Amino acid sequence: MKTPKFLLPIATAGVLALTLSACGGGGGGSTTAGGDAEQGLDGRGPITYVQGKDNSNVVRPLIEKWNAAHPDEKVTFKEQTDQADQQHDDLVQNFQAKNANYDVVSVDVVWTAEFAAKGWLQPLKDKMALDTSAMLKPTVESASYKGTLYAAPQNSDGGILYYRKDLVPTAPKTWDEMMGMCSIAKENNIGCFAGQYAKYEGLTVNTSEAINSAGGSVLDAEGKPSLNTPEAKAGLETLTKAYADGSIPKEAITFQEEQGRQAFQNGKLLFHRNWPYVYNLAKTEGSSKVKDVLGMTALTGTDGPGASTLGGHSAGMSVYSKNKATALDFLKFLTSEETQKFYATQGSLAPVLGALYDDKELVAKLPYLPVLKTSIENAVPRPVTPFYPAVTKAIQENAYAAIKGEKTVDAALSDMQASIESASAGQ
Ligand code: GLC
Repeated sequence: MKTPKFLLPIATAGVLALTLSACGGGGGGSTTAGGDAEQGLDGRGPITYVQGKDNSNVVRPLIEKWNAAHPDEKVTFKEQTDQADQQHDDLVQNFQAKNANYDVVSVDVVWTAEFAAKGWLQPLKDKMALDTSAMLKPTVESASYKGTLYAAPQNSDGGILYYRKDLVPTAPKTWDEMMGMCSIAKENNIGCFAGQYAKYEGLTVNTSEAINSAGGSVLDAEGKPSLNTPEAKAGLETLTKAYADGSIPKEAITFQEEQGRQAFQNGKLLFHRNWPYVYNLAKTEGSSKVKDVLGMTALTGTDGPGASTLGGHSAGMSVYSKNKATALDFLKFLTSEETQKFYATQGSLAPVLGALYDDKELVAKLPYLPVLKTSIENAVPRPVTPFYPAVTKAIQENAYAAIKGEKTVDAALSDMQASIESASAGQ
């Protein structure tokens, strides 16, 4: 039997770099002598840390701790919105303006190639080197571009299937098993399943998961788009059919992470695909109706567990920062064992240090860690390319139209294929 893509070792998944037929690469000129990457290396002083909305309430306490120990190198937190696409656009604008005050920025794993190729991220090598030997390999790979580390892996992310333990006797392993349990949702007058289907990065995540979990892949082993396959079709169809028959409730077409989490926490969904941060909030928020009935398992696939899309964030240092020595110390602080434990215990965020997943004390506190480790180890990266914005747009727009029934699955997949081909060829 052919090994499904998602079961291949993660090192193999690393070849998912989109093949560029044109020159590609986009420059990276500032790493040359005299460029911005050569400036400010010894600079120390106040810096700003930029990140999306701190849903998990972990950033402020960490910064307070840092500031107490570094009175002359204080960090100020610039908080962005909670929407991945807006965070991206804000960073792009500030890099283009060479804003020296965006010293350290949170970089989604899918932005590394674009930001590195543009020459906006300080390469973490030589004087600015960071030890990554204890980190999970996929987190290091997704913070690297063309073999150079461009950001410090900060939090990993893997998709989890949350479910209602009180209503679901045994967690489903396959998509069909899960769909077979939708009658339970009906009897209880709640929605059956939802992930994130608004037109933004989260839809690329969910579409890729559907395709990978059905044995397909967005890119083939050579890095070429491979969406015109029966497996990709079967994958996208899981979403379009479930949306059409109401197994995915209609309102889910507006869901980003937070809307889905709220629906699940308010008891309105039987199954919910989301990231690990939901665990902490669903367990501790006063308004949560699922505190004592929260089940967590792997995403579902065709014949067994599905394949998560690899998510996560790294902390990148801007080449325009004037205080890079401070920024490097701050990156080391964010990746330290103590901070990584704090992320896990306070925010149920996925650590980047491999050993923490087997830490007995931590596993006792956070029973989801083994499920999460499996999710991350089997996770499939999204395409690695400086032209990722065009690639994700092609996936989102076509998947959105197909889910809403405005395009057939066949048309959506061949349009996706064509747009990704031109995104990689025409630049
Ligand atoms: C999470 C993931 C990130 C992904 C985003 C999509 O933040 O960590 O990788 O792109 O969700 O909304």
